[in-house]
Amino acid sequence: MQDAAPKTIYLKDYTPFGWIIDDVHLTFRLHPTATRVISRIRFRPNPETTDRTFFLHGEALKPISAKVDGHEVALRNVDGGIEADVPNAPFNWEAEVEINPEANTALEGLYMSGGMYCTQCEAEGFRKITWYPDRPDVMAKFTVRIESDAEHTPVMLSNGDGLFYEQDSTQTPAPNVSIYQDPWPKPAYLFALVAGDLVAHEDSFTTMSGRKVDLAIWVRPGDEHKCAFGMEALKKSMTWDEEVYGREYDLDEFNIVAVDDFNMGAMENKGLNIFNSSCVLASPETSTDGNFERIEAIIAHEYFHNWTGNRITCRDWFQLCLKEGLTVFRDAQFTADMRSEPVKRIEDVLALRGRQFPEDQGPLSHPVRPESFQEINNFYTATVYEKGAEVIGMLKTLVGDTAYAKALDLYFERHDGQACTIEDWIAVFEESTGRDLSQFKLWYAQSGTPKVTVREEYKDDVFTLHLSQSSAATPGQDSKAPQVIPVAVGLLNDNGDEVVPTQILELTEAEQAFSFTGHATRPVPSVLRGFSAPVTLEQNVDDARRAFLLAHDTDPFNRWEAGRMLARGSLMATIRDGAAPNADYLDGLKSLLTDDTLDPAYRTLMLGQPSQSELAGLLHQAGETPDPDAIHTASEALRDAKAQSWADILPDLYAANQVDGPFSPDAEAAGKRSLANSALMLLTRIEGGALAATQYAKADNMTLQLSALSALLDADAGDEALAAFYDQWRDDRLVIDKWFSMQVIHAKPEAVADTAHRLTNHIDFDWKNPNRFRAVMGVLAGHHAGFHNKSGAAYTLLADWLIKLDPVNPQTTARMCSAFQTWKRYDAHRQTLIQTQLERIAGQATLSRDTAEMISRIRGV
Ligand code: BES
Ligand code: ZN
Repeated sequence: MQDAAPKTIYLKDYTPFGWIIDDVHLTFRLHPTATRVISRIRFRPNPETTDRTFFLHGEALKPISAKVDGHEVALRNVDGGIEADVPNAPFNWEAEVEINPEANTALEGLYMSGGMYCTQCEAEGFRKITWYPDRPDVMAKFTVRIESDAEHTPVMLSNGDGLFYEQDSTQTPAPNVSIYQDPWPKPAYLFALVAGDLVAHEDSFTTMSGRKVDLAIWVRPGDEHKCAFGMEALKKSMTWDEEVYGREYDLDEFNIVAVDDFNMGAMENKGLNIFNSSCVLASPETSTDGNFERIEAIIAHEYFHNWTGNRITCRDWFQLCLKEGLTVFRDAQFTADMRSEPVKRIEDVLALRGRQFPEDQGPLSHPVRPESFQEINNFYTATVYEKGAEVIGMLKTLVGDTAYAKALDLYFERHDGQACTIEDWIAVFEESTGRDLSQFKLWYAQSGTPKVTVREEYKDDVFTLHLSQSSAATPGQDSKAPQVIPVAVGLLNDNGDEVVPTQILELTEAEQAFSFTGHATRPVPSVLRGFSAPVTLEQNVDDARRAFLLAHDTDPFNRWEAGRMLARGSLMATIRDGAAPNADYLDGLKSLLTDDTLDPAYRTLMLGQPSQSELAGLLHQAGETPDPDAIHTASEALRDAKAQSWADILPDLYAANQVDGPFSPDAEAAGKRSLANSALMLLTRIEGGALAATQYAKADNMTLQLSALSALLDADAGDEALAAFYDQWRDDRLVIDKWFSMQVIHAKPEAVADTAHRLTNHIDFDWKNPNRFRAVMGVLAGHHAGFHNKSGAAYTLLADWLIKLDPVNPQTTARMCSAFQTWKRYDAHRQTLIQTQLERIAGQATLSRDTAEMISRIRGV
C-alpha cells in the first residue's frame, strides 16, 4: 500500500551493492497458507565499493529466524526490508521465513493458481519470498530444494537441471523432495518454482554442438492436447537462434509451465518459463489464427531472453529496454522469417501507432530508458518494448546487417554473465563499427514522437527532398535536440518503375536537404519505406499521388501506407464535413483485393482502416477536438461504402479464400482465412447474416467459428449463436474469455457500459483472474465510442472496478489505468467526467503504489 510520501527512484542514484553472493541454497517446505522458506547464502565484501550496509529486501515475510555464521542476529526493520550488523568479511547467512501463497492475490512472489504453486519474481517479487538483495546486478548460483506432500504436488520444478526427486522417509509424513541446481549465475528476478499436479508434453532438441536438451510443456491434466503447437514453436525458436544469432541453449532441460492466473503474457525464468495459459495453450478447436501467431511469437520471445536478458542481464531496472527492446526486436525478426516480413512489419507499426504513439503523446510519455520511477511495474510499457525495439531496428539500419551481426557477437562475447547498461550496449556498437553514436543515444533519453516534415523541389533534373524534424514538449522535457533519423527513400518514375532503389537518408540536423541528380522527369518519392523510424510524417501529398503509390510502390510497407493515408483522408473528410467516402480510394483498393499475386494476409491488412482512437489522436494532433460519435459514424459509413461498392467481388473473394482439408495454423492458410473473414464481415452488412450463420454451423475450428459469430453480432443477429457458443465452451476458460470479450466488442456505443456491467454479474465473471477481468474491462476501455460515450457510464464503471481490483491486484489495476491517458484530447464535458473518476480513484483511503503513481501521472499532478 501507498507510503505517506511516495518514494521516487532515480537512475542517477545507482550504487553497487556492498556484497557479492556466490551461492544461494533455498529450501521450500510448501504449504498453501504457511510455506517455510529457508535460505543459506554466502556473502563476501564487494571490492568495488566500501559501503558495507547490509540491507536485504523483504515484503510480507513472517520472520522465523536469522543467523550470521551460525549465531542468531538482531534484524532492524527498515523501509522495504531489513538491516543487520555483519562482519566486514565473508560470512554465512541463514534465515527462515514463512509466507502465505494462498493469500497472495497480487500474483507476484509465490502464489497459487488453480491448486498449483507458482512464482512471478520480475521485477521485484523475489522479496516476497525471502530476504534478499532483490536487484538485477546481484547474480548468484541457485540450488533449490522443494519439499511437499506427494498427493497434491507430484511435480516440483525450479530453474536449471533437476538433480534429484524422491520421497524423504526420514520425515513423517514423508514428503516428496526435489532438488534443482542452476549452474548459471542469475539475478533473483529469474528465480522460479512450480509445484502441482501437472502433466508434461515432452520432446527433445539437439543443439548445434550436439547436446541433447529435454523439453517439456507442463499443464494441468486435461490440457495435454493443447501443447503440440507450442512445442513446435519452441523447437523452431531454438533452431532460429542458433542459425541467426549463433546462440545455443545452455542447460540439459527446458521447461514451460502454463498457469491460468498470470498478470502478464509470459516470463523468461531461467530454464523454467512460466506462461499465462492464454499464451501457450492452443488447439484448432479453441484457438484462432491470431492466437496461434501470438503463441509462436511469445514462446520465441521468452526463449530468446535466455541470451538477451538472462546470460546478459540488466544492471538496474532503468535498463529494462536493454533486454526487452532487443528481445522484442529479435522475436519480430523470427516472426518475419517464419511468416511474412511485410505483414509482420505492418502489424508492428499498427501496434506502435495504436499503443506507443498515444503513450508518447500524452501525460505518460517517458523515454525508452526512463530516468525515474515510483513503481517499476508501471514501466513495462509500449515505449520501453515497442519503441525500444524500433531503436534497435534503426541502429541495424544505420550500421548495416553485417556490422549489426558483428556487434552482436562482440556483445555476447564481452558481456556474457554480466549485468549491463545501455552505455555498454552502445559502446559495443561504437567499437565494432567505429561510429560515434552519441547523438543516436538520444533515442534512449528523449521522449515524444519526432515529427519529420518533407518538402520536395525539382529543378534542372535535380530532385531534392528537404527534410526537417521537430518534437513537441513532453512531461519533464520542454525542448529537444535533433535526433538521428534514418529515412528510407526510393524514387519511382511516372510508369511506376523504381528509378532509385531504397537508400537511407540520415537526417541528423533540424533541417537538411538531400538531392538526386539526373532525373529528366520529375520522380515520385516513396518516403520512410518500411517505416524506417518511429516518427510521424508530414508530407503534402494529394490523393492522386497516394493512389499512384497504392498501385505501384515497390516497397510493400509504403504501398500499404498509401492506402492507409487515403482511408485516413476519407475518414477525416467525413468526420469534419460529412463528406461521402472517397470513391478513388474504394476503386483503387478494389483492384488490389482481387489481385491474386498479392498475399491474402497482406490484402487483409490493405482492407483495414485506421481505428477510431487513432483518428481521435490525429484530430487532437491537428488541434481539433475529436467527437467520438462522429468518428464512429464515419468509420461505419466507410465500412458500408466498402460493402456497397465491392458487392460484386465480395462473394468470389469469400469463396476463393476458403481453405480445404484439415486445419493448419500456418501463415498461408491463416492469411486466406483472414481475407475470407474480412469479406464475410462486409458481405454480412449487405445480406444480413445468412452466410455467417452457415459458416457458424459448419465451423470446425475457432477461427471460423469466432469470425462467424463476429459477423452475426455485428448484424444484430448473434443471440442464438452466442448462447450456443456458451453452452459448447462453458468448461474452457480461454474460450469463455472470448465469449465475454465478443459481447463488449460488438455492443453499440450507447450500450457498451450496460453490456459490460451485465457481464460483471455473470456467474463466470471471476474478476480476480486477470484474463477474465481484461476480457471485459480491457475490452470496454478499447471500445472507443462506447468508452467515451457522453453519458460517462463507461468511465464510472471502469473506475468502480479499478477501485475494487486495486487492493487485490495492483499490477493489473495500474496497467488498466492507462485507458484514461488520452483524457485531454476530448471536450470539456468528457474531460470533467474523466477527471471526476480520476479524482475518485486518487481519493481512496488506501491505494497501491502502482495505481497511485499511474493516476497522478495521468492527472499531471
Ligand atoms: N519479462 C517479461 C515479463 C514481465 C513483464 C515480467 C512485466 C514482469 C513484469 C516477458 O519477457 C515479456 O516481455 N512478456 C510480454 C510478452 C512479449 C511477447 C512482449 C508480456 O508478458 O506481455
Ligand atoms: Zn520480454
